[in-house]
Amino acid sequence: MPTSPFRPQSAIDRLVMGLDVPTVREAEDLVKQTQGTVGVYKIGMELQFAGGLELARDLAADGHKIFLDVKLHDIDNTITRAVRNVAQMGVTFMTVHAYPKTMRAALKALEDRPDKLCILGVTVLTSMDEQDLLAAGYKGPLADTVEMRARDAKAAGLGGIVCAATEAQRMRPVLGDELVMVTPGIRPAGHAAGDQKRVMTPADAIKAGSDYLVVGRPLNQAKDPRATAVGIVSEIESAL
Ligand code: C5P
Repeated sequence: MPTSPFRPQSAIDRLVMGLDVPTVREAEDLVKQTQGTVGVYKIGMELQFAGGLELARDLAADGHKIFLDVKLHDIDNTITRAVRNVAQMGVTFMTVHAYPKTMRAALKALEDRPDKLCILGVTVLTSMDEQDLLAAGYKGPLADTVEMRARDAKAAGLGGIVCAATEAQRMRPVLGDELVMVTPGIRPAGHAAGDQKRVMTPADAIKAGSDYLVVGRPLNQAKDPRATAVGIVSEIESAL
């Protein structure tokens, strides 16, 4: 069975830093400080509206692994055409919402080159709990929705999913070894959860079967982001 080119090879590979800051200048500064201690830099919505797309292109051209967290969801034609453009940017990962039609339309853009870009399906946001899902009109339990979307992502042929580490153990057998599992909501011991509701420590997330850990505020608001990244990577290493 072929192995996905997007599987992490080392503990550093597994650490995804969220560049969730208001300006490109601050993001560049964080990259400078943490270079070599972080595997992937994630550019999300905040920075995308402030020059983050150009930064993504530039960092990718400099050899960094970039995760463009765009969480796309639209009509099929728009998705296919948007993903076609993302695939030209040189980024390694991108996100779409894990709706079957959206995922199929996104993959269509890669044509016969699925190795070009790892498209990840966002299952249920880590800031949501059972009550939030009910309030949004979905039936519980939340983990069943995550599993349904993981199955749909696999059936569509996606590169992986985004879910909470609290569901990782249940999702691993659903995904098999080919799809990667990316988990935000990571909180090293002693860090505030903030708006995240389904959180886990780096070590527990790895033990539960997560491939990539997305760490935002604990890293981008740290006094010493480099030392914090080194600490998280050593926690990952000892949990592997
Ligand atoms: O600061 P914090 O560690 O909570 O940041 C998590 C990052 O992961 C944010 O950039 C957020 O947008 C992203 N994310 C998430 N939950 C998802 C998908 C992405 O928190 N399901």
